[in-house]
Amino acid sequence: MSDYPKIAQLKTVAAFRARLAELGLELPVDDAVLTAAQGSPLAQPISLGPLQVGNRWCIHPMEGWDANRDGSPSELTLRRWRHFGFSGAKLIWGGEAAAVQPDGRANPNQTLATPANKAGLAALRNECLTAHQQTFGTTNDLVIGLQLTHSGRFCRPNSKQLEPRIAYHHPLLDEKFGIRPDDNSVVWTDDDLERLINSYVVAAGLARDAGYQFVDIKACHGYLLHEFLSARSRPGRFGGDLEGRTRLLFTIIRRVRETYPDLHVMVRLSIFDTLPYKTSREVGAPMAYADLLPYRLGFGTRENNPLEYDLTEGFELLRRLRAAGVLAVNISCGSPYYNPHIQRPAIFPPSDGYQPPEDPLVGVARQIHAARACKEAVPNLPLVGTGYSYLQEYVPHVAQAAIRAGWIDMVGLGRMVLSYPELPADTLHRGTTDRKKICRTFSDCTTAPRNNLPSGCYPLDPYYKQRPEAEELRQVKQELR
Ligand SMILES: Cc1cc2nc3c(=O)[nH]c(=O)nc-3n(C[C@H](O)[C@H](O)[C@H](O)COP(=O)(O)O)c2cc1C
Ligand code: SF4
Repeated sequence: MSDYPKIAQLKTVAAFRARLAELGLELPVDDAVLTAAQGSPLAQPISLGPLQVGNRWCIHPMEGWDANRDGSPSELTLRRWRHFGFSGAKLIWGGEAAAVQPDGRANPNQTLATPANKAGLAALRNECLTAHQQTFGTTNDLVIGLQLTHSGRFCRPNSKQLEPRIAYHHPLLDEKFGIRPDDNSVVWTDDDLERLINSYVVAAGLARDAGYQFVDIKACHGYLLHEFLSARSRPGRFGGDLEGRTRLLFTIIRRVRETYPDLHVMVRLSIFDTLPYKTSREVGAPMAYADLLPYRLGFGTRENNPLEYDLTEGFELLRRLRAAGVLAVNISCGSPYYNPHIQRPAIFPPSDGYQPPEDPLVGVARQIHAARACKEAVPNLPLVGTGYSYLQEYVPHVAQAAIRAGWIDMVGLGRMVLSYPELPADTLHRGTTDRKKICRTFSDCTTAPRNNLPSGCYPLDPYYKQRPEAEELRQVKQELR
């Protein structure tokens, strides 16, 4: 186990600030959590185009590997959306990744955004809406979207076996995930992509009919539309220069907007990436890349040092997204499959990860600073920030300070909401947080699905603690040790 100081050991704001200083990290940190009545910046409403959002808290999309095999929601799926609803956050960014085609699921239990699951999509939204109405007495300032995805390289539609559909051959990712470099049967043809675009449009129509105010055309975390952003070696219309590599994304956005002018479009984007890391029990290390320099196999990676980010193309993409009518962008990074330490900083790694190669605070700060740079570069595009959960009790201190300083427009929460759904409401109404519920980044919510169990906060959520899968997960972790 890594010996970085745990956040829970930093008992005061001063101790937290001292640790940041020790690491040379600059983050804005307020002295105390402010309520809405005390003027918390997080309580300010914000307009995303014509959409009025009641506060600055956002819930990131989080799938649960827990839909029924036909893609319809199970009680676990509904429960998660219910929790999103009573969290107090006013922007529900996509809820979870819903696959636009059955072959594009990341696991056999992924929610489907296909005609057969039209009622299921409506039920998820309704669950969230009802919980919000019951808790806060209004839904006028609540905005709910649906995230649409195709898992690309990470499709597992039928079993734990990968059934990849890739944009291009990537020497490191092919090696890590067992794709033969000469196997072109797994590479999308341009014709197939035309059919895929159609699936996105159909899925967007279903979301609209189910009452969602927007769809998120997911372009992050190594999934298909993110992978296309680095498809420099792909010949034809959908690869090569930035225009070619973003053509698929922009075609989907344009077609959705033309077909459903009253449905809004947003994008979740991995604004930078880094090298794929080796899965191990040791401290994480990148796969060997010396022979691949200048590195042209990532989006937002520096060519001469892919361990560092380069946001030049990212800024340009954000400008073009804005021009294409995208209302807001949720800034994320990397991929949970090949560099989880940058995507979701954690002190305890998931079972397919590695020991943290840096203090996870460094990873948090990297995401916050990259998002701030995006905000500066494209100030008139509303942005949501990611990667805050590892800040633990100091999430609200940093979130409210970052909003006040204009570093970001809204702060999104991922894992924290699995362990502690009411955190946004507690901060805004009581100015406190409940230490017992704070996500300590045990990564069980990632380790469980990596081992074919539904996701959930097994360590802290009593509902998951008492489920039979908790024992299975314990055994899996014991074997790994
Ligand atoms: C269990 C789990 C499921 C997730 N599912 C999704 C998803 O469906 N779509 C998505 O864009 N990100 C997904 N993510 C990533 C989160 O939205 C978020 O980016 C990440 O957890 C980092 O934010 P945090 O530090 O607040 O947890 C998932 C993360 C976890 C832990
Ligand atoms: S299992 Fe719970 S405590 Fe662990 S990372 Fe997930 S939400 Fe946080």
